[in-house]
Amino acid sequence: MSEPAGSSAPAVIAALGAAVPPRRMTNADWGQYVHTSDEWIRSRTGIEERRVAGDDESTATLATRAAERCLAAARFPSDRLRWVLVSTDTPEMWNPATACFVQAAIGAVNAVALDITGGCSGFVAALGLAESRARLGDPVLLIGCEVLSKAMDWSDRSTAVLFGDGAGAALVLPAGDAQGLSVTSLIARTDGRDADILGKPYGGTKNPLTPELVASGHHHQIVMHGQYVFRNAVVHMTEAAYAALARAGLTLGDIDWIVPHQANQRILDAVAERLKVEATRVYSNVARFANTGSASIGIALVEAIQRGLLERGQHLLTVAFGSGFSWAASVLTCTAVPPVEADWGTG
Ligand code: ACO
Repeated sequence: MSEPAGSSAPAVIAALGAAVPPRRMTNADWGQYVHTSDEWIRSRTGIEERRVAGDDESTATLATRAAERCLAAARFPSDRLRWVLVSTDTPEMWNPATACFVQAAIGAVNAVALDITGGCSGFVAALGLAESRARLGDPVLLIGCEVLSKAMDWSDRSTAVLFGDGAGAALVLPAGDAQGLSVTSLIARTDGRDADILGKPYGGTKNPLTPELVASGHHHQIVMHGQYVFRNAVVHMTEAAYAALARAGLTLGDIDWIVPHQANQRILDAVAERLKVEATRVYSNVARFANTGSASIGIALVEAIQRGLLERGQHLLTVAFGSGFSWAASVLTCTAVPPVEADWGTG
């Protein structure tokens, strides 16, 4: 395939879309499944409720809803897309990629469809891939989507209460074609030496599904060393923020909004404290959506824009951490407030 001439100008997020399931599940509702309390969850995580997929919802249907909203906001025809990338740790199925189902549903007939498994920082890391393709002239639709509720152990109170389902989509276009959130800088890192600390180890080729494993109930188990994850999330999100700022030639004083991965409120507060940034500049919706993995930053950006918080000329800093361990950050410069649409599941 011949490559079009590249551009030195960074690509832009020209539009965004979000979708969440209609079903709300409060902390009190978790009491039906595990021994927990609203007070425990709220004080440890800041989470009050989350959205949970219904029987008729899956990663592909949720990702498709967010993708449709994004393309509608941009008035961008799906057959012009060259790439459909889905960042997810909870795919539609083992094979083919979730992105294939989304591609078919939205009619992106000229696009390559691929999934990226990058943990909770996958959306930001994949934005780097999308940006590099868009810089070469290819329109890219990037969707972060998780249906964690169907991929976790509902009897494990130490992990299950942390998560929620949702999807956030971004249309990434060459700089010459659109304005929006210009990708001024982006860094992404992985340290696979901590790959065993956080993840879902069963059901793959190392620990295949067997009748015994399913009978044991561990096939959906999420392994997580909570306090170790907490400490590393704070350290690496801080480090990533400074690295992305340095690459952009900016300082924290230039940043109007930090839009972090919504891991939990205590992590966000600790990162803000380390960066010496007022908590009011750190966007948070973790109370209402919990941790939606690689969907969380897209959802947060859509919500922040709908609330009128973004203005032309502002700089945003996105920063994320997740399994791998992997972490990533980007500085986005608002050359125009991008159009957004969301399906908050309330209509
Ligand atoms: N309800 C009530 N009690 C609970 C619950 C619950 N849902 N979950 C655990 N407990 C109990 C534990 O069993 C333990 O009881 P014990 O002392 O009798 O053994 C007690 O609470 C304390 O458990 P800890 O794990 O020490 O609690 P901690 O204060 O560390 O909080 C938490 C746990 C919230 C998971 C914290 O470690 C954390 O936020 N870690 C970061 C993990 C994270 O965000 N993961 C998401 C994926 S990665 C990412 O997105 C960055």
